[in-house]
Amino acid sequence: MRLMLICLSLLALSACEGRQSVLNPAGRDAQDVLSLIWVMFGGAVLLWLTLGAIFVYVTRVEPREMPRRWGEILIVGGGVIFPVILLGALLTYSLPMMKPQRDADPGLKVHITAEQWWWRVDYELPDGSRVTSANELRLPTGRRTGLVLNAHKVIHAFWVPALGGKVDMIPGRETYLSFLPEEPGVYRGQCAEFCGASHALMAFETVVMTPEDFAEWLTAEAEAAPAPANGEAVRGAQVFAREGCGACHSVRGTRAVGQVGPDLTHVGSRRSIGAGILNGSEEDFARFIAHTESLKPEVAMPSYDHIAPEDLRALVAYLKGLT
Ligand code: CUA
Repeated sequence: MRLMLICLSLLALSACEGRQSVLNPAGRDAQDVLSLIWVMFGGAVLLWLTLGAIFVYVTRVEPREMPRRWGEILIVGGGVIFPVILLGALLTYSLPMMKPQRDADPGLKVHITAEQWWWRVDYELPDGSRVTSANELRLPTGRRTGLVLNAHKVIHAFWVPALGGKVDMIPGRETYLSFLPEEPGVYRGQCAEFCGASHALMAFETVVMTPEDFAEWLTAEAEAAPAPANGEAVRGAQVFAREGCGACHSVRGTRAVGQVGPDLTHVGSRRSIGAGILNGSEEDFARFIAHTESLKPEVAMPSYDHIAPEDLRALVAYLKGLT
C-alpha cells in the first residue's frame, strides 16, 4: 500500500519537471512563488498533523482517564491559539510578496495583447518606438522586464510558470506583470483562462537570452523583412499577394500591412507557429495554412485548402525565408 502511494505521487510529480512548471523556476519571481508554495505546504502539513493528533487522542481516551483541564488546554491551545499563531505567521510571510507589479521599475517594456487565439507582442524601445512580433516572447536575463497586458475580445490569462505569477488579461483594461529571468532557456507559456474553442491551443514560447544576445535579436527583429532569397520564394511572395494574405497579416517593408492576424515579418525565425501548437517546419507551415480551421477551431483565418500543392510549397518557402 505504502509503495503504491509512493509510486502514485512520483507519477504525479513527474509532470512537474520541465519548461512549463512552477517547480522549475528560472527567474526571481518564480523562485518567490516556489518558496511561498513550500512554506504554505509545510505550514498546512504541520497544522493538519497537530489537529489530527489531537482528534485521534480525544476519540481514543476515556473521558474519565483524561487529566483534569486537559480538555480545555487541547481545545483552546490546539484548536484556537496554535492555528491563529501559525496562520498569522504564514500571512505575515506572504503579504510582502503581494507587492503591486505596477511599482516595478522595468528597464524594458513589452505590450502583450491576447487575441482569439494568439498573442500580439510589441516591444517598446526607450525612444518610444515599437517593434511588433507575435506568439513568442524574448526576454534578457538579469534585468526586470515590465509586461503591459491587454486583451482584444474576451478575458484571457498570461502565465509562464517557470518565470512568475499569472495575471488576467482583460479587454479595455491594462494589467501588469514583470519578470526578472535568471536562466537562459526556453520556457512555455499558456493562456490560463478559458477563452473559447481554442483556449487549449493558445500557447507561446518565452526565450530567455543573455543581454548581449537579446540586444542583437531585438535589433534584427526591428528590421524590415528580408527580400525573397530565391525563385521559389519570389513565387511564394506572389501567392501571398494573390491570396490576399496581406489584408490580415503584416510583413514590414512590403505592401502587406494587415492588423487582424499575427505579424509575419520574421515568422521564419520563430520557434513555433499557430501560437505554440506546431514546430514551424516546412510541413507544419503547409499543414497550418491548408487546415487552419481544423487545427485551431473557430479561428478567424479560413483554411486555404484550395491552393495548389506547388503554390503552397512556394508560399511556405517565402514564409520560412522571413527570418
Ligand atoms: Cu486565451 Cu484561454
